[in-house]
Amino acid sequence: VKITIIDREGEAHVVDAPTDMNMNLMEVIRSYELAPEGTIGICGGMAMCASCQCYIMNFEHMLPEKSYEEEDMLDQAFFVEDNSRLSCQIPITDGLDGLEVKIAPASE
Ligand code: FES
Repeated sequence: VKITIIDREGEAHVVDAPTDMNMNLMEVIRSYELAPEGTIGICGGMAMCASCQCYIMNFEHMLPEKSYEEEDMLDQAFFVEDNSRLSCQIPITDGLDGLEVKIAPASE
């Protein structure tokens, strides 16, 4: 699927995200190096760091509900908006073709 990812400098990148590799959105962002190493995915996708926070610009209703762990982590994170999600908690699925997300600022 094609996903538009807006990096922390505000530049938009349209990337191909595979649906058959069991990837989540954080891993896609990392694989295209759209955020500096060490500033995203610090906990390895366990919903325990919030470094992978993104703002969901469309398709919000298509995403899985937030887990208790994700809610809890977002409660403690910086720069949280109504459309914030932890990108490691978003599996890449066919329904996400055309998704647009913006990477949240790094917290340090
Ligand atoms: Fe740590 Fe997503 S990578 S919360």
